[in-house]
Amino acid sequence: MKIIYQIVALSFLMLLFTNCNNKKENISTSSFLNNNIEHKVDSVLALMTLKEKVGQMVQYNGSWDVTGPPSNVSDKDKLENLKNGGVGSMLNVVSVRKVREAQKIVMENTRLKIPLIFGYDVIHGFKTIFPIPLGESASWDLKIIKKSARIAAKEASASGINWTFAPMIDVSRDARWGRIMEGSGEDPFLTSKIGVARVLGFQGNDLSKNFTIAACAKHFAGYGFAEAGRDYNTVNVGIHELHNAILPPFKAVAKAGVATFMNAFNEIDGVPSTGSENLQRTILKEGWKWDGFVVSDWGSIGEMITHGYAKDKKQAAELAVKAGSDMDMESYVYQNYLEKLVKEGKVDISLLNDAVKRILRVKFKLGLFDDPYKYCNEKREKTEIFTKENQDFAREDAKKSIVLLKNSTNLLPINKKIKTIAVIGPLADDKDAPIGNWRAKGGSNSAVSLLEGVKSAVSKNTKIIYQKGCVLVKKDDKQHTGFLFPLTFNTTDKSDIPAAVNAAKEAEVVILAIGEVALQTGEGRSQAKIGFSGVQQDLLEAIYKVNKNIVIVLMNGRPMQITWAAEHVPSILECWHLGSQSGNAIADVLFGDYNPSGKLPVSFPYHVGQEPLYYNHKNTGRPFNPVNVTYSGYTDSPKIALFPFGYGLSYTTFDYKNLKLDKSEMNKDGSIKASVEVTNTGKIEGEEVVQMYIRDLVGSLTRPVRELKGFEKISLKSGETKTVTFTLNRELLQFYTANNKWEVEPGDFNVWIGGSSKAKLMTSFTVK
Ligand code: NOJ
Repeated sequence: MKIIYQIVALSFLMLLFTNCNNKKENISTSSFLNNNIEHKVDSVLALMTLKEKVGQMVQYNGSWDVTGPPSNVSDKDKLENLKNGGVGSMLNVVSVRKVREAQKIVMENTRLKIPLIFGYDVIHGFKTIFPIPLGESASWDLKIIKKSARIAAKEASASGINWTFAPMIDVSRDARWGRIMEGSGEDPFLTSKIGVARVLGFQGNDLSKNFTIAACAKHFAGYGFAEAGRDYNTVNVGIHELHNAILPPFKAVAKAGVATFMNAFNEIDGVPSTGSENLQRTILKEGWKWDGFVVSDWGSIGEMITHGYAKDKKQAAELAVKAGSDMDMESYVYQNYLEKLVKEGKVDISLLNDAVKRILRVKFKLGLFDDPYKYCNEKREKTEIFTKENQDFAREDAKKSIVLLKNSTNLLPINKKIKTIAVIGPLADDKDAPIGNWRAKGGSNSAVSLLEGVKSAVSKNTKIIYQKGCVLVKKDDKQHTGFLFPLTFNTTDKSDIPAAVNAAKEAEVVILAIGEVALQTGEGRSQAKIGFSGVQQDLLEAIYKVNKNIVIVLMNGRPMQITWAAEHVPSILECWHLGSQSGNAIADVLFGDYNPSGKLPVSFPYHVGQEPLYYNHKNTGRPFNPVNVTYSGYTDSPKIALFPFGYGLSYTTFDYKNLKLDKSEMNKDGSIKASVEVTNTGKIEGEEVVQMYIRDLVGSLTRPVRELKGFEKISLKSGETKTVTFTLNRELLQFYTANNKWEVEPGDFNVWIGGSSKAKLMTSFTVK
């Protein structure tokens, strides 16, 4: 066997030199190696020096775009190391010209010409921007979600990128956490399904295609459980919560073939995730038999020193490589210490071999060895980005992500022939907020604003009165160097309110756009307050005094505290940060061209003090006591959600009946079919997300009061009935039990099917 590898390696070497002499840009291996990537990987590895192996494990930021604390390594040193084969990947190098330039340095100067892989945060679109991931998750529409990832991959790959740092599949239950905008909310089942859809969208079924890119499951693990919702903060969860609530989406995408993982900034139970051998080796690589590579988060290896886990950079490198972090993003500790650690016998070369093989494997799968410049196509860059077709899809995606939270007087949909309408609010004509955080190459101020959307929807005879009501001001945000000039709400100036009130007096209906600016959520954007900032609440109450026909268009990246609004205002549309086509999509819903179908992927609290708030909580020993205060609640706030997980209204109504099981007992490997009849009882066609929840009543460990275990989005004409059937089986009923194993435990289960996590139709079955 060894001899074969040596022969293969030798032939490969000869080919490399032939290619060098011919000054060819690629080092195609296909002529003499069979298609087995493993052989190719081994052949390349056999040629590599220790230094070159370390080089593959180093990732540099391109200096053009900074998405973390900048390093003090000079561009000159970076260039030198690129030439020496000291770098395996770059991030934030975007555009065909820049990618080609960097790749050329490596192809023309390094001994082995191993191509760089180029990573970028393509989180909710590249230049065509889609709803923020939390918003898009509200569509519960896996086809739409997969397609938006596919389009993002097409645009990114047309601009030189072959690897995205997405999807973020951190389950999060805390509205204060700024990065809640980047995930799919509080439920592991929903997050798993959406995570897989995104991975398949980015990667397709063949990574070597020109328009697919490698995905990255992040952040492994626990990042969304930061204490107090404060970004980067400590995480304290037990092993069972880790397996049952945090890891399922990661396991699902590993199984679906995600090419890479990114580890996390946080510690769990005293061990930084970046240094966790249990997470990266025992669970991910050995347990799940996953063969991709793990990239660190930005500087997270070096930060193990600040955590108090490593005494210096050298030890940080040792701990991280032993734990299974394969690539160092911007800590510069692999580059500076790995070689030494191997030579001193502190780190076994087999660990580096494993890491490098994983990295090479992804590069081979992407086809980079066949053509290192395959993503550098100027024609594609000119023609495939921000196309009309992509914009049309962005509108479709955005309208499906909108959630109708309240419509108590049926103010919505508004007749397009309405005589006078007031469009008010600091976000009403703002073209930037909808672009959201993680906007990749989406330009500032590039969205269709709500006002623009309304103008193109209504009849020529409709009078539109626009007033800001309060202004946005520039925020001094030196802390976040990558994001220039973020805006914020003015906290003192109320001088624009009277004009807005006058506009409201004149109008039949007021559309009020309030919420959060783009960079109020995202990395490092945790908040202790989640209500309307600045003078927005004053504006709302002033308008309400003169005109009660208000539709709030809420634009935001997290669940907000909107208790007063929910109590007083008749109509509220949750519009997140919806991307490039925001205004058109909102107008589609406001004027009834699209009947809203979104459902919340996160709970909205009455009060921020309820956070973390999530529907799938445990019961406690004192869930409720109607006669005194000694139960698990609050004395000054409800304990339930204002708007619960899975909730969302439509312009029509749906009735659920005849919840039936095909049997009342099953054994652990059997299955039960649960079905329900859903009828559209309203006057117009609509879509409904039918949701199934279960409760395992008694377990070796306590189980959540409800857990989502199935959903299907259906479309029903007025008066139409459909039967929806779900199958319950081992995969859905098992959990990580007191035996530290995934098991189905015998006992009784409840099952609910309905239109939200508060579904009332319930029946039961027993597992023997
Ligand atoms: C830090 C973030 O946590 C991570 O998600 C992102 O991919 C990297 N920076 C690179 O920008």
